[in-house]
Amino acid sequence: MPVVPKRLPGAVTEYTTMKVSPLAGSIGAVITGVDLKDRANKAMWAELRRAYLDYHVIAVRGQALAPADQYEIGRFFGEPCFYPFAKGMEEFPEMTRMVKEAGERDNFGSDWHTDTSYLKEPPGTTLLYSVETPPKGGDTLYANTRAAYDALSDGMKTMLNGVVGVFSGGLKHKKGGDRAAHHARIGHMTVQNSNEADKYEARHPVVRTHSDTGRKALYLSSLHTIRFDGMTEHESRPIIEMLNDHCIEPEFTCRVSWEPGQLTVWDNRCTLHNAINDYHGYRREMRRLTVGPEQPR
Ligand code: SIN
Repeated sequence: MPVVPKRLPGAVTEYTTMKVSPLAGSIGAVITGVDLKDRANKAMWAELRRAYLDYHVIAVRGQALAPADQYEIGRFFGEPCFYPFAKGMEEFPEMTRMVKEAGERDNFGSDWHTDTSYLKEPPGTTLLYSVETPPKGGDTLYANTRAAYDALSDGMKTMLNGVVGVFSGGLKHKKGGDRAAHHARIGHMTVQNSNEADKYEARHPVVRTHSDTGRKALYLSSLHTIRFDGMTEHESRPIIEMLNDHCIEPEFTCRVSWEPGQLTVWDNRCTLHNAINDYHGYRREMRRLTVGPEQPR
């Protein structure tokens, strides 16, 4: 039986082809009762897209997906993108395996960020599929940066109007060292371009307008936004850090737990995420595909 999700501002509430269970007040839903390999079910795909736009993060449980399935589902959301810092899979070079072995300490994606925002055309959407998950821990946190923008004062919104961020892949503000240092510690991932990371730099508005919904969202992170264009780091970092902290206030967040065979799809245009590194001693393996390159405006 279809389940009617809680009403969200602007959300259409009825889903007839799937069960949609909201995860928190402002972001995230778990979806069950669908088969993502059913390509012909147009009503289901339309509802999936609606749930993605309403909730920004959808965790679709109970899917047995081969890389080819994930790739095809990804194309429903946009053209696949290359990830510059890990080698792709042989058959699907845009898809990467994200592995933390039981004996490793560092994981991939453990700071709040939106994916590859240092590219000129960052991917609008990420599709992460869980192959192996730890018995406990290894959840991913998400934050709704559209709700965070809405909650800013009018004065701050006016101040940020037209501000451009400088986004870098160098990870110069990452705890424990820059990109090369980070890569040296995530041994089981097939990393690349470790010493070229500073060359991946782009400028984007720190308030972007969503290309599907027309809603404004904050677009920045302490990890990737090194300064505002036309300002020094000394001048801009405190504001970037304040805005990052504002985005991750609990009321804008949800927590997605994983089980093998789960496809979580998120909207990088209006979210941040953070992979929690709390499962030392256990293996976690994911397959990641980013799609829908677009220049933030
Ligand atoms: C990522 O940052 O894309 C990875 C998130 C995760 O592994 O949970």
